[in-house]
Amino acid sequence: MTEIKKHSKVFIETYGCQMNVSDSEVVLAILSKENYELCESIEEADLVLINTCAIRDNAEQRILGRLDVFRLEKKKRPDLLVGVLGCMAERLKETLLENPVVNIVAGPDAYRDLPRLIASVKADPKQINTALSHEETYGDISPVRMDKNGVSAFISIMRGCNNVCSYCVVPYTRGAERSRDPHSIVREACEVIESGYKEITLLGQNVDSYHWVDGESDVDFPDLLEKVALLNPRVRIRFSTSHPKDISDKLLYTMAKYDNICNHIHLPVQSGSNVMLEKMRRRHTREWYLERIAKIREVMPDCAISTDVIAGFCGETEQDHQDTLSLFREVGFDFAYMFYYSERPGTMAARHFKDDVPLEVKTERLNQIIELQNTLSLESHKRDVGKTFEVLVDGYSKRSKADLTGRTQQNKTCVFPAGGHSIGEYVTVKVKDCTSATLLCELL
Ligand code: SAH
Ligand code: SF4
Ligand code: F3S
Repeated sequence: MTEIKKHSKVFIETYGCQMNVSDSEVVLAILSKENYELCESIEEADLVLINTCAIRDNAEQRILGRLDVFRLEKKKRPDLLVGVLGCMAERLKETLLENPVVNIVAGPDAYRDLPRLIASVKADPKQINTALSHEETYGDISPVRMDKNGVSAFISIMRGCNNVCSYCVVPYTRGAERSRDPHSIVREACEVIESGYKEITLLGQNVDSYHWVDGESDVDFPDLLEKVALLNPRVRIRFSTSHPKDISDKLLYTMAKYDNICNHIHLPVQSGSNVMLEKMRRRHTREWYLERIAKIREVMPDCAISTDVIAGFCGETEQDHQDTLSLFREVGFDFAYMFYYSERPGTMAARHFKDDVPLEVKTERLNQIIELQNTLSLESHKRDVGKTFEVLVDGYSKRSKADLTGRTQQNKTCVFPAGGHSIGEYVTVKVKDCTSATLLCELL
């Protein structure tokens, strides 16, 4: 008697932003219904899916490198199926199918179609669906969580982006902005709380423009945040990403009202120069940004502020760059993600402006920003020495299993002796010392 194979095995590799991580969990939910189960390595898999990012050229190069690795595995096992999902799939479409290893190309709005695409591979080994949708939010799907520690869950509240920042590929790869039904968001939040998660992060490219109108109800982002915060006062709520042009006072007052909404705002600035901001089509100025920072500090004096920045955008002069450095000094960011400009084909910047800052200059400017931010992060941490914080334990220290790590509301990482505590608990710590990356603490 031949053994009946009960499950097919899928291996999912995820690149890019947290939204992609959430999407992979939606994909796993869809495939779980089709008798697929997740496996831990390419070698065990019948199907390998790579959920991709197109934000910068080096993100795409990394993924092409992974496809080479899959090709070696497929040489050994010709039946192995390989699918490319996500933003790079959406950007490159059929071009990706030319890669001999790729069987399936599916864009961010096509994941419900994956079972059909997979089934069709038998008839035709090249399958593609990159249709973008104005409605798809996967709202009815309960994602199958893939995180390892069961502490922190991410919930997608909207998809796409209606801003057309000139450097950015996201509006093309993720399509138009659409908000998800608040009932389905609250339902998902209840599910994760019931399964023991202690922290929920609400995700969108521009959460401040979340808006749901439905008969009687008219829900904006602060309303939604409040609904989720009220579910359980011992579950922390975070969100990302805010946009300087849209972040409202109502949001700040809502954050201040609820203890479990974490005092941290990620507010990408991109540049400190008005000339660059205009060319980037950010629709905010340096002055507007600084006013928003002042308001955040007025409403929540202990709120951490982090940012994203791009060095060496088209036509950036030394003065523009100095404006970015001075803005960093003026705000004193707690943390920053820093990049140099990478031209993305098809974007407004690629069509209208020359990518004319030489790579050496971009790198040099980026290094200066990184160096400055390191000192700002260290200063921010030094201000915390002697203070006490409640932290949510989320892991073991890389250096020693006798130490735990956790994060403050401000999203700063603390390391402290385990003292019998474990992952998922809240503990109170006092900061004894710090580096630019970590607060070194003792248990209280
Ligand atoms: N929606 C968010 C983040 C989008 S992507 C926002 O509006 O801020 C994350 C970050 O990648 C951006 O904030 C930007 O700093 C960076 N980024 C986007 N396109 C880029 C490009 N072409 N080159 C370099 N960095 C880029
Ligand atoms: Fe890209 Fe701008 Fe949309 Fe952010 S707000 S995803 S940077 S277009
Ligand atoms: Fe990358 Fe797409 Fe996210 S381009 S950053 S994976 S939205």
